[in-house]
Amino acid sequence: SHRPSINFRPIRPSDLEVLEQIHADIFPIRYESDFFQNVVNGRDIVSWAAVDQSRPNEQSDELIGFVTARIVLAKESEISDLLGSSKSDQTLVYILTLGVVKTYRNRGIATSLVREVIRYASSIQTCRAVYLHVISYNNPAILLYKKMSFKYVRRLYGFYLINGEPYDAYLFVYYVNGG
Ligand code: ACO
Repeated sequence: SHRPSINFRPIRPSDLEVLEQIHADIFPIRYESDFFQNVVNGRDIVSWAAVDQSRPNEQSDELIGFVTARIVLAKESEISDLLGSSKSDQTLVYILTLGVVKTYRNRGIATSLVREVIRYASSIQTCRAVYLHVISYNNPAILLYKKMSFKYVRRLYGFYLINGEPYDAYLFVYYVNGG
């Protein structure tokens, strides 16, 4: 038997294949290859990887979880209404994707990844909040964000189109630096 030893590190170009594979396995939405290129090269995107260092050699550095996010201008975001008279330099961190491979779920790995994002957002002086969308049927993710004290903002009808079918999204926000 072996005890997992989870570590967090930045995502790198050598993660490309595994990152794409996990996204394809666990999300109902397809992402462009440009998205993955931008993630692994850190172009306009910040990201964290989780790895299990107790796995055998080649796998000890392989992604078992990830979170990707981007910085956006508060006034250009869809939650500018929540931020009141926001100064023009105010920013937000938008979580794009969060995932943990099945065999590593329910051990707090996603919680740790989201905490990294919150810590990063808090370190940016102009940043007012972390926000994200989650598809309305995704109870594990909704419970995770509620447990982490994200606030439910609104429901967006038909936000996602999957195989020609519309699905609603919930928008969640976590205020930092006094909101
Ligand atoms: N059922 C109910 N609640 C759950 C479940 C579940 N299956 N999984 C997680 N939660 C909730 C619980 O409140 C849990 O706290 P608890 O263990 O004290 O009860 C809390 O989330 C924290 O769980 P973690 O162990 O930190 O979460 P995990 O590492 O298992 O990852 C995740 C959760 C990311 C949702 C995982 O199930 C996953 O990868 N799912 C597929 C992809 C996905 O849905 N990603 C999020 C989409 S939203 C977005 O990307 C912006």
